[in-house]
Amino acid sequence: MTKEIKIKINSKSYLGEIDETIFEIAEKNKLFIPTLCHHPDLKSNESCRICLVEIIRNGKKEVVASCSTKIFEGMEIFLDTAKVKKSRRLNLELLFSDHYEKCPECNWVDHCQLKKLSAEFGIKENRFSKRRREAKIDKKTSSMFWDSSKCIECGNCLSTCDQIVGLKIIKSKYTGSAIIFGPDGGQSFSETNCVYCGQCILRCPSGSLQEKYDIENVEHLIKKKGRNVLIAQFAPSARYSIAELFGESADKNYEKKLISALKKIGFDYVFDVNFGADITTVEEAEELEDRLESKGALPMFTSCCPAWVRYLEIFHHELLPNLTTTKSPNQCLSVAIKTHFSKVVKISARRIKIVSIMPCIAKKYESQLPELRLGHRPACDYVLTVREAGRLLKKNNIDLSKIEDSEFDSLLSEATGAGYIYGASGGVMESALRTLAAKNCQNDCQLEFSAVRGLKGVKEASVEVAGKKLEVAVVSGLKNAIKLLKDIKSGVKHYHYIEVMACPGGCLGGGGQPIPTTPEIREQRKNAFYTDDSSKKVRRAHENKDLIKMYEGLNAKPLSEKAEKLFHRKFIRRQKK
Ligand code: SF4
Ligand code: SF4
Ligand code: SF4
Ligand code: FES
Repeated sequence: MTKEIKIKINSKSYLGEIDETIFEIAEKNKLFIPTLCHHPDLKSNESCRICLVEIIRNGKKEVVASCSTKIFEGMEIFLDTAKVKKSRRLNLELLFSDHYEKCPECNWVDHCQLKKLSAEFGIKENRFSKRRREAKIDKKTSSMFWDSSKCIECGNCLSTCDQIVGLKIIKSKYTGSAIIFGPDGGQSFSETNCVYCGQCILRCPSGSLQEKYDIENVEHLIKKKGRNVLIAQFAPSARYSIAELFGESADKNYEKKLISALKKIGFDYVFDVNFGADITTVEEAEELEDRLESKGALPMFTSCCPAWVRYLEIFHHELLPNLTTTKSPNQCLSVAIKTHFSKVVKISARRIKIVSIMPCIAKKYESQLPELRLGHRPACDYVLTVREAGRLLKKNNIDLSKIEDSEFDSLLSEATGAGYIYGASGGVMESALRTLAAKNCQNDCQLEFSAVRGLKGVKEASVEVAGKKLEVAVVSGLKNAIKLLKDIKSGVKHYHYIEVMACPGGCLGGGGQPIPTTPEIREQRKNAFYTDDSSKKVRRAHENKDLIKMYEGLNAKPLSEKAEKLFHRKFIRRQKK
């Protein structure tokens, strides 16, 4: 039995457990302690010293870091004494002095924890300007932007890439007066094996790491629209998380409001990436069945996460045949728009410009890949993260919470429950299993596969579909996938089908999502997807009426030669750096 420890915080009694820190027990009891370097996904870095509190130990008062100090029986803790406030403020000023503030021009302004905390402490100016460092700016990749002059040396990026992603792209180097965090030898991220998952960005408190912004490109597209037809589309999880940027909880579905807002700022049509998810599902389910029958490469891995695909393309060339060749939902929808939709409404694909709102920064990289072009142009022209989309709307003075509802445009408008769950780890697999299970089954076909749901990093299950027993695994967090690959290669584990998402919990925990993204918020986002899925009349991708019409219009069926050309792709053996 866990031993209970009695403590007092601000003279009120609380019960804690052995090995708990002051910060943990305060957090559990919703008592606020400011922090810049603490993130619930990471082991504490103990670097910011903003989490200071005062305790009484051996009859003496002491100021300690709450994130690293464990509680003891009878401990008395004071959260906001004058001494604590003064020390926190001084430490914050010192951190702020390391950060070369460019707030008016910084797109991170809505997410910057440093700015938020400094405002709360009433810090307006940098008293220690001589401590400012030289800036190294890296904008060579299509996904990331790095400005080292904003770094406050918290170490969260290094911990994230090591503890969650398992790649150790970010290193630290002591220079005497400062610690420099970033790729080895000051390289650009483009010169590393970074997979552009953006998890480091999600935990950077000062905007030193950000996504590469496409807001200006999209604004330019709208301003210089001319004869172009502008189409916006958004990902399964974006409709929920964008609400968070407008003060709503993480489980609110703002899809109808987002449609209105996008139309208001100049888009002609708005489509749903859930429709693209239904295309991915029917193609992928067909492909899995084909591989099972023809003894193709197994286990088959999902490939809709570009960070995961890039990882295999760099580190495991021998496993590339195991990736499903089906394109991601964003790519499938973009192709459907520039082929089927364009033909039906008689608009040349060259005039169509597609902007996609994604929880992901790796999708920016994916959209620029030559092998995914439609003809000579990208199928999807620009990708905005959910954060960028929120900023774009705010720049246009749009408050999503106050805007009216609208519906998606027709032709590609129906989306099934199977599309809604794509944003959660296990959603891609469950959608494919739903479609497979309905084959060779007349009545009461299995619809829900709860064993593959949830936020656990690795889930395994045996499922019966299409008369076959399949061993499946669902992995989220690239580090978990790296470990699973080792087990597969060493023969410890055997599967038929594996879903991998690089981000914890899947795209709901993506690198382009609002900040903070914590385990609690990921849970709320996930629950919202499944609630909406269960309320849908149609919950299997292949029953989507618009999808059936699209295939008829294209004169194709899943995995036919035509569908292979449009909705399937090749992979590249990339050189390891
Ligand atoms: S984007 Fe992902 S892989 Fe690249 S440095 Fe950041 S955490 Fe590591
Ligand atoms: S880049 Fe950001 S996350 Fe990394 S050490 Fe600097 S402030 Fe911390
Ligand atoms: S899990 Fe989703 S958000 Fe994260 S990199 Fe993959 S596709 Fe992007
Ligand atoms: S949260 Fe304790 S040192 Fe940063």
